[in-house]
Amino acid sequence: MALRVTLPPKISLVLTPPKPNLGSPRVSMTSAIRASAAKIETSKKPFCPPREVHVQVTHSMPPQKVEIFRALEDWAENNILVHLKPVEKCWQPQDFLPDPSSDGFYEEVQELRERSKEIPDDYYVCLVGDMITEEALPTYQTMLNTLDGVRDETGASLTSWAIWTRAWTAEENRHGDLLNKYLYLTGRVNMKQIEKTIQYLIGSGMDPRTENSPYLGFIYTSFQERATFVSHGNTARHAKEYGDLKLAQICGTIAADEKRHETAYTKIVEKLFEIDPDGTMLAFADMMKKKISMPAHLMYDGHDDNLFEHFSAVAQRLGVYTAKDYADILEFLVVRWNLEKLSVLSGEASQAQDFVCTLAPRIRRLEERAQGKAKQSPRIPFSWINYREVQL
Ligand SMILES: [Fe+2]
Ligand SMILES: [Fe+2]
Repeated sequence: MALRVTLPPKISLVLTPPKPNLGSPRVSMTSAIRASAAKIETSKKPFCPPREVHVQVTHSMPPQKVEIFRALEDWAENNILVHLKPVEKCWQPQDFLPDPSSDGFYEEVQELRERSKEIPDDYYVCLVGDMITEEALPTYQTMLNTLDGVRDETGASLTSWAIWTRAWTAEENRHGDLLNKYLYLTGRVNMKQIEKTIQYLIGSGMDPRTENSPYLGFIYTSFQERATFVSHGNTARHAKEYGDLKLAQICGTIAADEKRHETAYTKIVEKLFEIDPDGTMLAFADMMKKKISMPAHLMYDGHDDNLFEHFSAVAQRLGVYTAKDYADILEFLVVRWNLEKLSVLSGEASQAQDFVCTLAPRIRRLEERAQGKAKQSPRIPFSWINYREVQL
């Protein structure tokens, strides 16, 4: 039974009984990148998916700063909406899939299934995990619409920010759709278990601890778009190594979308650094102190209480998304926003600047040490691939 305590002025704390720590079977990237306070409760109750139990902070941006985003309306129209692609020029999932209305459909499906036989189970675990992450898109649109000053106030608002959020969502929707249909056709995965995981995950939601602040929110999305660009790029590279050029093209095409989105979000944050260097530096340091939580960190399939840790361990071992990538993304953003040279005014912002500019090497050192101590990892069954075992 959860007990909700409301703390003045705008902080509420959800207290839940602690769950015994089952431990992660190996030190993986998740140990380095998880929000330290974001403990997860998984419950076997049918309507109770895993949920966040950390302190939930809301509306932390000073209200007067909302004006900054109102004033940036025209700027966003001219500088951010240009990174959207007109629907008529966009690829659609069907461009990469056998056409069910054509005579050659069965043959094409047969060819797809033959190619997919060459690909090992651990790769499928990564691809399924990536697909499930994409399929929880309602959660990410919700997250963007929690942000003060940029949320879509009506559901069809005509502000540049709202237009961006809806069109971004519409572009993203093709990612999960394409991977889902592709994986279905391979016959290599347990679709019902995957579908259950998606349902649990959307039911869980997520709290990336962006506190309704567009400063924190756009730093988070800058990081995440880069992270998905990296991971889809890596699944593309691996598919090519296994000789499946069509799958490589699918993952590479999705990665290219993520890159375009990364360009837009990093441009917003670049603008915030220009307008409000101290506030933006403090926000960046705050996000990095809390650690960027992965969008699907609450995933659950009804069986495995540590599903996300297990999926992450496989992604780390295969090099699809690693602790090193986390540090590389942070470093990329520091360079992208020219943070080493940026002038800030307050001592607090200057400390925040030192923190973010020196963090990547520190994360790398910690991770190397953890990897050095890591024991031989076990093999565990994944429901997504019909409970076949995969090494973590
Ligand atoms: Fe995506
Ligand atoms: Fe994305």
